[in-house]
Amino acid sequence: MRDDSLRCSFCRKSQDVVRKLISSPSDYPRAYICDECLQVCNSILEEQDGRPWGSVPHLDLGLYPTPIDEMLGLQEALGGGPRLYIKHDDYIGPGFGGNKVRKLEYILAEAQANDADTVLTIGSIRSNHARVTAALAANVGLKCHLILNGQASGTPASLYLDELYGATIHRVANREDRVPTMHRIAEELSANGRKPYEIALGASVPLGSLGCMRAAEEIANCPVHFDFVFHSTSSGGTQAGLAAGFESLHCTTKVIGVSADDSSESIATQVAEIVQGVATLLGTPLDPRISVDDRFVGEGYGIPTPEGLEAIRLFARHEGVVLDPVYTAKAAAAMIARIRARDFTANQNILFLHTGGQLALFSA
Ligand SMILES: Cc1ncc(COP(=O)(O)O)c(C=O)c1O
Repeated sequence: MRDDSLRCSFCRKSQDVVRKLISSPSDYPRAYICDECLQVCNSILEEQDGRPWGSVPHLDLGLYPTPIDEMLGLQEALGGGPRLYIKHDDYIGPGFGGNKVRKLEYILAEAQANDADTVLTIGSIRSNHARVTAALAANVGLKCHLILNGQASGTPASLYLDELYGATIHRVANREDRVPTMHRIAEELSANGRKPYEIALGASVPLGSLGCMRAAEEIANCPVHFDFVFHSTSSGGTQAGLAAGFESLHCTTKVIGVSADDSSESIATQVAEIVQGVATLLGTPLDPRISVDDRFVGEGYGIPTPEGLEAIRLFARHEGVVLDPVYTAKAAAAMIARIRARDFTANQNILFLHTGGQLALFSA
């Protein structure tokens, strides 16, 4: 006999697996909701809101909206200037968090809709995207293959977790080998009767960026109006989603992507392409201003900079917030430099989007 507690509180149907446990806003007892009812609720709410991306299927795996806190300690340490805030996508939930969860909610929904049983993706052995893909695939019952390049003396925490989440790891010698290897493995899986689904680097495709449009919506819905959002940018999907999201919502917040690796020109081109893909996907014209600052990359991707290390210390000592040296520290360094250069006035509000990545600080 089924346990009655495993009934959905809405449709009352017995559930083999209770995917979601929600609590009501006040002190009412907890209620269960099954996936089917959750999807119906989401689609009703999203259609009511009239958000163009609302009707596109996605999974609901993160904890939203992610919190926004004011950074009074950092503002004081910088000698005043604009009011500073932080949005914690690093607290997003699964896979040790970060912006990748938002994108993968859309990508994995498409994988499931295509009846895929296996997902594949690429990255470095420290890749946040690869780790989160492995975590979410485990969560929704998909097999996962990761094609990873790079060397390390110990075992990077992300690589350790990739294996712990049950992903099959394929090591390749360099970046250029990743995509061809992914295609080859996908073909082999298909030949063996599996249904593979390949995920692009960083899930930075228009569909994935819809998840970051939802981040823009959370920011636009905040009672504080933010003049600027600073965040780390690399494969461009996060920036494309934020810029497209603000434009769709007629929100004047400006997005400043701070490069973790490539030139401003190359990232801006990539962001613009993804935005146009989003426009096609949603059937809405989009042409946001795209601003990428590549002055804080230093010697290259993943190589810490003195400004980034200072940003790590300032955030840790004055806010108790940990940044990572690869992405968020360089983005924070750009924001700090512009505050020190008095580019902003005291009555402006600046938001720093913490996109996660702190596991780069740890080895297993
Ligand atoms: C922690 C972190 N922040 C920012 C980014 C950049 O995001 P995007 O690739 O969407 O530009 C990444 C991408 O890997 C990341 O891991």
